[in-house]
Amino acid sequence: MSDDSVLPPPEIENLLAESRLFPPDPAFVAQANASAEMYAEAEADFEAFWAKHARERIDWSKPFETTLEWDLPFAKWFTGGELNVAYNCVDRHVERGLGDKVAYHWIGEPGDTRTLTFADLQREVSKAANALKELGVQTGDRVAIYMPMIPELPIAMLACARIGAPHTVVFGGFSAESLSGRINDCGAKVLITADGGYRRGKEIGLKHHADEALADTPTIEASIVVRRLGHDVHMVPDRDHWWHDIVDRQSDDCPPVAVESEHMLYLLYTSGTTAKPKGILHTTAGYLLGASLTHEVVFDIKPDDVYWCAADIGWVTGHSYIVYGPLANATTSIMYEGAPDTPAWDRWWQIVEDYKVSILYCAPTAIRAFMKQGEAWPAAHDLTTLRVLGSVGEPINPEAWLWYHENIGGSRAPIVDTWWQTETGQILITPLPGVTTTKPGSATHPFPGIAADVVDADGNSVPLGGGGYLVLKRPWPAMLRGIYGDPERYHETYWKRFPGMYFAGDGAKRDLDGYLWLLGRVDDVMNVAGHRISTTEVESALVDHKSVAEAAVVGKKDEVSGQAIFAFVILKADREPSDALAVQLREHVAYVIGPIARPKFLMFVPDLPKTRSGKIMRRLLRDIAEGRVLGDTTTLADVGVVDTIREHSGSAEE
Ligand code: WT7
Repeated sequence: MSDDSVLPPPEIENLLAESRLFPPDPAFVAQANASAEMYAEAEADFEAFWAKHARERIDWSKPFETTLEWDLPFAKWFTGGELNVAYNCVDRHVERGLGDKVAYHWIGEPGDTRTLTFADLQREVSKAANALKELGVQTGDRVAIYMPMIPELPIAMLACARIGAPHTVVFGGFSAESLSGRINDCGAKVLITADGGYRRGKEIGLKHHADEALADTPTIEASIVVRRLGHDVHMVPDRDHWWHDIVDRQSDDCPPVAVESEHMLYLLYTSGTTAKPKGILHTTAGYLLGASLTHEVVFDIKPDDVYWCAADIGWVTGHSYIVYGPLANATTSIMYEGAPDTPAWDRWWQIVEDYKVSILYCAPTAIRAFMKQGEAWPAAHDLTTLRVLGSVGEPINPEAWLWYHENIGGSRAPIVDTWWQTETGQILITPLPGVTTTKPGSATHPFPGIAADVVDADGNSVPLGGGGYLVLKRPWPAMLRGIYGDPERYHETYWKRFPGMYFAGDGAKRDLDGYLWLLGRVDDVMNVAGHRISTTEVESALVDHKSVAEAAVVGKKDEVSGQAIFAFVILKADREPSDALAVQLREHVAYVIGPIARPKFLMFVPDLPKTRSGKIMRRLLRDIAEGRVLGDTTTLADVGVVDTIREHSGSAEE
């Protein structure tokens, strides 16, 4: 954290809405998977609680001997045990007679559909795994995946898991440079990609980004390319293989490889406060347990539910709650390729009606976007099948919560506001439907077995009604095991600020009833549409442009995306500011990192406010971006700078 980072101010709107309580409906309580006893049971002996579920929920090739080895900050769960994740997500369901049950109802944006049963998945996953083996992938080798939301994406992940080859999925919206950076960090051997996909009625090519990335990735030996769009793309002989060639001709028999509990299942890269993304490392048994138990309990999953997590699999939400959690629970999921407004703003509600979706899990940014379009869109559809609604990615403001409750949930379906992170792997703070009385805007309480606390700057618990830093005080099964290749950075980033505790990077408040209210990130990381983007990464991308001398980036409050990226740019002496250059710079960031990081606002400034030690004072820049009265300027080296910037503020254009 930088010196000038401060706790975000308490959200006044949250405090005002606190008075509204939503107790569970008795009819829901009577059938709920969750029970209040779970808390007491887990509290009495958290290791025994997780061990019991690990024995019951996971099919082991070899039972584990030790529940937890905790050598702070390094955890090992269920050591001595062996298992295969793909077997647990697919094969065992087929063996138990669920082969014909639908695993995914897939819906392409243009309207094409595919249905995959668990038996289909077993076949396709085995073939894809055999194709990886043909390309020389062995247990332990890393495989990069860069794909749109098509069925081959979960198939590819499971194929990796089947042979014990850790995957790293790179979100399809990321740039070639982001892709090559991640491939090089983990030394991936094979890339699985596609010619492209559909988004907002347009064809979005991927293969040319992949090619650009592969020009700079010495460890990649081969690629597999799914044909989604059907156009000619450049295929490099001896390197690139069409999926329909190399996968389709394989045998559908591929025995799952049993790996140790702590075998690496995947890496997922996430932003921190430095420019270099961190490879968050997740392992096998604990992760599978954490994802599957929370999925079943938090969403009240029943065998005939139609469950839809509307995230992209490229983020951790998709890993845990589109792929591993739901499949381990033999759940039928919806998977939708495209945008919520294509062809019109009722696309989601049409899908809910057509497929009788019973559980929907999405982000506040989507809810706010729907809110903006008005209630007529959902009102035109039969949404009465919906019985649980979830929210994830950022704090949900009470207005959006209430809108979701009334217009999507028919004032009937409980809402679970779930707090967690790429690092936590599983939901950690959430209501339990049928148990928890909710308050709009509060993620309520830690999941059974999770020890969360709110502490002050010295690490002491704050009293009820107080605010501070969110920490976790004991390990949990799906927790990250480290940052790939950098144990020191793992320790520094998460365990050093408050010794003995995991610091999540979020501010939180606990009200007088003990409810937790998440207040956003306290470091220099923005939350744009529910995704973490570091200010440093965007700054590096700007400075990478030949016209830019220096840049500072902050998050500005945004009605739809939560935060929008606001960039302050100092040009090199011989360059002139212009609207055209501003557009160019914004595009440059989109090119270097991906469209999600494109600054919404960009202002040319002659100077930046700095402390005497030379640190950019983001707090002041945030004030300027928000048009607020300036906070404390006593540490500012040159007080005149802010006025000069203010005089320039006419030039911030979207
Ligand atoms: C950060 C983690 C977890 C999957 C999506 C994002 C914020 C997440 C909530 C919530 C308030 C939330 C936090 C967290 N966040 N869920 N329910 N209420 N804030 O994963 O990219 O790793 O981001 O998202 O700030 O630290 P991620």
